[in-house]
Amino acid sequence: MRVLVTGGAGFIGSHVVEALTARGHEVAVLDALLPSAHADPPPVPDGRLGTVADVRDRDAVREALRGVDAVCHQAAMVGLGKDFADAPAYVGCNDLGTAVLLAGMAEAGVRELVLAGSMVVYGEGRYACARHGVVRPGPRAAADLDAGRFEPRCPDCGDELSPGLVGEDAPADPRNVYASTKLAQEHLAAAWARACDGRAVSLRYHNVYGPGMPRDTPYAGVASFFRSSLERGEPPQVFEDGRQRRDFVHVRDVAAANAMALEAVHGGNAGAFTAYNTGSGEPHTVGEMAQELARAFGGPGPEVTGEYRLGDVRHVTADSGRLRTELGWRPEVGFAEGMASFAKAPLRG
Ligand SMILES: NC(=O)c1ccc[n+]([C@@H]2O[C@H](COP(=O)([O-])OP(=O)(O)OC[C@H]3O[C@@H](n4cnc5c(N)ncnc54)[C@H](O)[C@@H]3O)[C@@H](O)[C@H]2O)c1
Ligand SMILES: [Zn+2]
Repeated sequence: MRVLVTGGAGFIGSHVVEALTARGHEVAVLDALLPSAHADPPPVPDGRLGTVADVRDRDAVREALRGVDAVCHQAAMVGLGKDFADAPAYVGCNDLGTAVLLAGMAEAGVRELVLAGSMVVYGEGRYACARHGVVRPGPRAAADLDAGRFEPRCPDCGDELSPGLVGEDAPADPRNVYASTKLAQEHLAAAWARACDGRAVSLRYHNVYGPGMPRDTPYAGVASFFRSSLERGEPPQVFEDGRQRRDFVHVRDVAAANAMALEAVHGGNAGAFTAYNTGSGEPHTVGEMAQELARAFGGPGPEVTGEYRLGDVRHVTADSGRLRTELGWRPEVGFAEGMASFAKAPLRG
């Protein structure tokens, strides 16, 4: 297949390019090299394969789609951002960008899409109350967080809840601007698939980590905050009480999921949109991750600060069974092994 990878110069995109090439596909990259993602002199993609352009640029997209069989859409502005003033930039890159890309695909007759989705679409993950069964706690109040009450409570009785694994059919409940734009991308992809006989897959990645992860910026993920602290000789600063649960999935496994999804979507049903959780299936707390990383790096142990970010959710861990059963995907990098190698891996400037 000839595949256009948008965002192919980014953290995950560059691993996707590598995985696709290794499986014998022909790859082209379109990436705007956003300053928020590429602080240092940007790694300009190989001139022969790459276009430095924005997905909102219709002409550049039209040009990049020439001769392409499928699109792997990784380009997006990521992270929680600095403050609400970032909202137009997130919506512009992620949603207008996706709309322009899909319109270009409609025009060019490209009917296969794999989208970089995210677990952020779920908001808080899955919770059960001993008395009320599965419940959906709302956003946490600042007053509770200030008082160190980090666990969401049952909306019906106020009791403690037990967190579980979220499935793809759970209702979406985005809790911040970035999450809203990731959900809108999926809705646009589903609408495109119906209107254009397209076949679309969204891989809802959990917390991706690994070599080439960007250094800490307001747009980076928690693993890179910790790695950057360790490099400065400082203890990783763990927010809340460190017991918030996540699924840390290695970037090589995520890249393999993309390659498998592209191959599967090739023979899929026209008009279909399918979401797949993409997690390691091995949930850990953020505190455990900080500890594992500090140990492997040989740096100071983490400090739990009690700070919080209002848009963060407490626990979100996925059931990635659908991806395993339907596409035969198996994550290969375990937590301890992955963190040990990430502790020494190069980060991106
Ligand atoms: N890193 C994670 O843990 C994680 C988790 C869930 C989902 N995702 C999704 O995975 C995808 C890749 O994220 P990443 O972590 O590799 O981030 P990244 O910032 O390293 O890569 C994104 C790339 O997209 C490019 N880009 C952004 N907006 C663009 C635009 N309008 N036009 C062209 N190029 C543009 C950037 O220059 C960058 O190279 C994103 O869609 C993100 O939402 C990431
Ligand atoms: Zn209850």
